[in-house]
This record gives sequence, structure tokens and C-alpha cells, in this order.
Amino acid sequence: MVEPASVVLDPRTTEAVVFDAYGTLFDVHAAVMARADAIGPQARALSDLWRAKQLEYSWVYSLAGRYVPFWTLTERALHALARYPAVDSGIRKTLLAAYRELDAFADAAPCLERLRAGGLKTAILSNGDPAMLADAVAAAGFATRFDAVISVEDAQVFKTAPDAYRLVEARIGVPAQRTLFVSSNRWDVAGAAAFGLAPVWINRAGLPDEYPDLPPVAIVASLDALCLSPSGRSPARRPGSPPAPPRRGNGRRARHAR
Ligand code: LAC
Repeated sequence: MVEPASVVLDPRTTEAVVFDAYGTLFDVHAAVMARADAIGPQARALSDLWRAKQLEYSWVYSLAGRYVPFWTLTERALHALARYPAVDSGIRKTLLAAYRELDAFADAAPCLERLRAGGLKTAILSNGDPAMLADAVAAAGFATRFDAVISVEDAQVFKTAPDAYRLVEARIGVPAQRTLFVSSNRWDVAGAAAFGLAPVWINRAGLPDEYPDLPPVAIVASLDALCLSPSGRSPARRPGSPPAPPRRGNGRRARHAR
């Protein structure tokens, strides 16, 4: 897939943009990396393992038909500290507290402003449980920037289970085919594509693509690339007219993954 510079949204065909939270709006590595000096040279490896274990647990419980809140999994995943004996395990409490108030990526606030000013609905769909999401949203000053903050807790199963993505339509009242789903997690993009949402992959790190059978409609480098068509707020779509996928910045229509 050729990577477009931007994704141009037409409010006549896209009514809502739903964001993944951790890794997409909030920097999951901020808690550890802000303390990298105290933690030492293994800081990044520790942060990567913490995240990997958190996600592994979410998939293992979902496949086993069990649900445990994401915050509990986040706490348990910090057992990763045991793999790095050189790191003072006394930092555990500090890291967990910091995870409740992760930095938002710099491109998140302007993107949300832009889309909302254009009349689009914005929402979060996250594995995070409601309390941790409320803390993250409040810490970032995003309280008024979403029509809905949706936790998979309502479905009692984690993404990439279809029931997790199904919550979106029920909560925001916009059909899946008129909803863009935005995530920097490629596994999440795959789940959204399998469900029938139009996913955009925010490939911040320039990673190689995966899941060839579950592609995004577009791949961009940051949230800065999500913009509205120059017509801005547009009249309502005529009843019966088919939805069109968002256009890529290079003028070609992005392919919907269904
Ligand atoms: C989220 C994480 C897991 O759902 O990225 O917010």
C-alpha cells in the first residue's frame, strides 16, 4: 500500500471518528521513559515488556472466555520488573500512578479540535476500564472533546473480539460504514477491519505492515494527517445515497476493508 500524506474526510459520508486510546491518543511509554534516568539503560525494554504483557493478558483472558479489568492486567503486567533485576522495584508504585496520567501525543488535541469543528462526532473505544480512561482523559484535558468514551468493559471482552467493536454503533448511533476507526496498534486495525469499521493506521514508528488480509483504509504517520475536505461542515447525506470511503491525500479513494 502506498502511504498517503493525509486522509481527507468528507462529513457527508463520514459522521464519526473513533479513536483507540493507549498508544494512539496517549503515549503508553511516557510513564517509564519520563523516568529513564532513574531506571537506567533498560528503561525502553522494560516499557516494551510491560506493554506486551498487558496486551498478551487481554488476549489470553478473552480467548479463555474470561474478563478481568484492564487496570488489573496493567498492574499484573508490571511484573515485567522481575525480568530486570538491575531496576529498583521500588519504582513500581510511581510507574502505576504515572500510567493513570499518561502524556497525550502532541498531535491528539489539534486533531480532535479539527474534526469536531467540522461537525464530526468523536469518541474513544478502548480496552481501558472506565475509571482509568476517565483519569487519562481528565489528565489530558480532553473532557469536552468526545461524544463518548467507550470501554470494552460493557462487552466484557477485549479487542479484537467483534463484540468490543460492536459497542461503537450502539453508543454513538452512527453506522459502522460511516465511522472511521483510528488506531496506532496494527492488531487493533486488523480487528476493526474484520468487524467492518473503516480503520486508519497511525504508523508513528514506520513499522512494516502486517495482517495483509485485514488492511487499513489508509496508513499515515500521525494524527496531523486526518483532515476535513475543504467544504468543511456539509449538508446531510441524501437519504439512500451510498456512503463513500474517505479520500487519501493523493487524490485516490482509500479502499474500505470489509
Ligand atoms: C486501547 C489499547 C489497548 O484499547 O490500545 O486503548
